[in-house]
Amino acid sequence: MNVKEIIDQVKDAVSTHDQWRGKECINLIASENVMSPLAWKLYNSDFEHRYAEGMPHKRYYQGLSYVDEVESACIEMGKKLFGAQFLDVRPISGGLSILILLSSFAKYGDHYVAPSVPAGAHISQAEFGAAGIRGLEVRHMPLDKEEMNLDIDKSKKVILEHKPKLVNAGGTIFLFPHPLKELREAADEVGAVLTYDGSHVLGLIAGKQFQDPLREGADVVGASAHKTFPGPQGGMLFGNSEEHYKKIKPKIFPALVSNHHLHRLPALAVTMAEMIEFGEDYARQVIKNAQALAQSLHEYGFSVLAENKGFTKSHQVIVDVSDNGRGAWCAETLEKANIIMNKNLLPWDDVNTSKDPSGIRIGTAEMTHFGMKEPEMKYVAELIKRVVVDKVDPLRVKEDVKEFRKDFVDVKYCF
Ligand SMILES: Cc1ncc(COP(=O)(O)O)c(C=O)c1O
Repeated sequence: MNVKEIIDQVKDAVSTHDQWRGKECINLIASENVMSPLAWKLYNSDFEHRYAEGMPHKRYYQGLSYVDEVESACIEMGKKLFGAQFLDVRPISGGLSILILLSSFAKYGDHYVAPSVPAGAHISQAEFGAAGIRGLEVRHMPLDKEEMNLDIDKSKKVILEHKPKLVNAGGTIFLFPHPLKELREAADEVGAVLTYDGSHVLGLIAGKQFQDPLREGADVVGASAHKTFPGPQGGMLFGNSEEHYKKIKPKIFPALVSNHHLHRLPALAVTMAEMIEFGEDYARQVIKNAQALAQSLHEYGFSVLAENKGFTKSHQVIVDVSDNGRGAWCAETLEKANIIMNKNLLPWDDVNTSKDPSGIRIGTAEMTHFGMKEPEMKYVAELIKRVVVDKVDPLRVKEDVKEFRKDFVDVKYCF
């Protein structure tokens, strides 16, 4: 093994990747985004080399006064953004924030109610994910496939019947706000805690363009910090009850997070400040773009879900491509044209078909962050149609994509 060659290969892979995904692709993965240049710059600091067990100003190690300052700034700005009494940025991912919630409010053998994976839950909420690892008995809230939302009556029935310790709303297919008020009523009847996985929609919540989970009935929100919320990869938790936070804290440290990857924090602080300043405009445009993209795809004959509901009120567009070569073919062929999205299970798919499901999921957050608006979304729909419907050689379309992307390489909505 020639290690020098390997290092050169790694360096080449990174610079080629950065040029390709950063400047030449239309990035439509709904869970992705980019940080602003300032956040990106501050991501690379000596914070990366340090350890900080515990809470700001109550650490187990020395040398952390500036880390404390930055983490406290994140907490203060986050509390303001989300109207929360407590906020914790130590979970190093969204998935871990969900495991922390599952560990805080339910124990082995307890019932736990969440949407199913084909109905939009993330794998962390599933019996084969964190909920299963935690040994919880998972029961599913059914989806109303017309509404592309939780079926309120049936979901309430599941909660009342199974008397879970914990109910979790939110998910990874998330077109419309979940009916938290109604879930709260059912959760109250059985004494369950109601949590909300806001990983996908956190930036829309921060920008006040989606639902406000804490005001609508959720006890605690767990989320990623890097999907519609355009921060560094990581997680957070927030809520309003000190009682709940008392249960959560020991599950973060010492149980599940020893060191919380401190280099994230300056970038997170910058992103929070940007969302306070520009978040409303950004989130509004993300949703307008998703609606414009959905409408154009529909006009090109694609089977876009939730037509009767205006397609979407979030950053996501879900398309049934079972008549267009199915999810895997679409996603792989579009990648050849530098249009990046993911295949996705649809609510009626068997979970075992996840390698070639009948849907694709498209997200508008990242391209909105780079300044695209409705006219650009119409063009994106046309490019997708040329590849998937007209079967134009994707390598030809790729040249148009590269040309188009040249005007959208600077992040907007930032300092
Ligand atoms: C709803 C939901 N929750 C949790 C996660 C996990 O987030 P992370 O990748 O930050 O662990 C995801 C990831 O896409 C998600 O969609």
